Amino acid sequence: MFGKRPTIGTEVRPAPVPPPPVAPPPAASVPPANGKAGDVGLAPLPSDGLGAPITSPPLAPTRSPKQAVPSARDSRRSESYYEVKGAIFSALIEAIDLSQLARLDAESAREEIRDIVNEIISIKSIVMSIAEQEELLDDICNDVLGYGPLEPLLARDDIADIMVNGASTVYIEVAGKIQQTNIRFRDNQQLLNICQRIVNQIGRRVDEASPICDARLPDGSRVNVIAPPLAIDGPSLTIRKFKKDKLTLDQLVKFGSVSPEGGEILRVIGHCRANVLISGGTGSGKTTLLNCLTRYIEEEERIITCEDAAELQLQQPHVVRLETRPPNLEGEGQVTMRDLVKNCLRMRPERIIVGEVRGPEAFDLLQAMNTGHDGSMGTLHANTPREALSRIESMITMGGYTLPSKTIREMICASVDVIVQASRLRDGSRRVTHITEVMGMEGDVIITQDLFVYEMLGEDANGKLIGRHRSTGIGRPRFWDRARYYGDEQRLAAALDAAEVQNEPTRN
Ligand SMILES: Nc1ncnc2c1ncn2[C@@H]1O[C@H](COP(=O)(O)OP(=O)(O)O)[C@@H](O)[C@H]1O
Ligand SMILES: [Mg+2]
Repeated sequence: MFGKRPTIGTEVRPAPVPPPPVAPPPAASVPPANGKAGDVGLAPLPSDGLGAPITSPPLAPTRSPKQAVPSARDSRRSESYYEVKGAIFSALIEAIDLSQLARLDAESAREEIRDIVNEIISIKSIVMSIAEQEELLDDICNDVLGYGPLEPLLARDDIADIMVNGASTVYIEVAGKIQQTNIRFRDNQQLLNICQRIVNQIGRRVDEASPICDARLPDGSRVNVIAPPLAIDGPSLTIRKFKKDKLTLDQLVKFGSVSPEGGEILRVIGHCRANVLISGGTGSGKTTLLNCLTRYIEEEERIITCEDAAELQLQQPHVVRLETRPPNLEGEGQVTMRDLVKNCLRMRPERIIVGEVRGPEAFDLLQAMNTGHDGSMGTLHANTPREALSRIESMITMGGYTLPSKTIREMICASVDVIVQASRLRDGSRRVTHITEVMGMEGDVIITQDLFVYEMLGEDANGKLIGRHRSTGIGRPRFWDRARYYGDEQRLAAALDAAEVQNEPTRN
């Protein structure tokens, strides 16, 4: 296909045909590129030039299927691979008009690159199999058109986070576990160029003057870049992958993250307009749970969501989505979460959903919750339901409100009905560990009551934790009347009963 030569052998021979005279690729000789085909191409590759005979050992035989791509690039062949790729890349950058390329759509640009790469390969008499050529072409297209070595990771759906700690260390999180990959960047300059390309899309720059930047990929993935001199060992890039197909409550039940009865209780909580805080650590599944809960909101309710980066995917028709804005380069134009939540209240919301509560907006959310916007929800970072309550309190205090702490606590009690705690356990599994009610005050103390908990029982031979979800025997939670009002009391009673008697160990 595409005029490729069949495999002749695996050795790369010196070029018998003299290549056209090509100057080494200085960065300045590259035409200014706009859009995507820019910065990465500008970084000169450590190439030994086109004329030099390449006598390195062959590339690894075949490309593994997509899932296995990162490990397929093992370090044994990487030096020679990078050399061949470097030579071809340099020749390509010489031959191609990057500004023209930027005007093409991805598919045509790829075809264009494919043609030129094939030509270079045949001129230079580099011998490689079709599979090797395909891999090389993918790699080069990723460098020119996309995010370079990150592309195979971005293409994988099973990865939750990508963590790049300088050019040669890349970790990913798969199935709740962090693991190192063999992906590497040519050097820190290439990595920084890719970071630059990512943040350019939102009109920002990362450099010594502004070394910290939050951005987003076109697919919605959240990105944080922190560059030298703050990051000592090279640019550090963290990507929280955006999942198009968000997990549903049924899937969480299937994974054992919550038992079927627990799932039913969550459905009732989402439907009967209880005010909910979802608490958990980083990556514990808070946003996922929040998204699940929102599915049970009635179609006719007017919902306003406030997020730092739009992640929630509400299914209802009547939704207004709001997003905060960081300050621009001059430090102006910032719109905070607090601004959004305050503004929300003037938008006649029925429910307010705050992606992540981390600051003084806690006060406004609580106010919304106890002034007729029942069923409002938010997530926050805390390790237990009790800690969630004290976090809310300190967020309000740190926001500059000089209210006595008893008043703040009373406000919390009057606003929050339920706290759902999510946790990522040490075996990588994510679980709902508590569904806890806020009962009221006793003296100065907020009283809570666990309704449903996850109990750890032990560990199997493979290190997987064994445990079970169970109700604590509370037959009538405080939101019972609310559930009854919305016609959910039978479902709630049945789920609570079943959770009490069954006590089945959870799967996996
Ligand atoms: N119960 C679960 N089982 C498996 N994966 C999950 C579960 N909950 C969340 N995830 C995955 O974990 C990652 C982090 O989830 P997210 O909800 O964004 O966490 P948080 O908001 O707490 O930082 C996502 O990729 C998500 O798909
Ligand atoms: Mg989140």
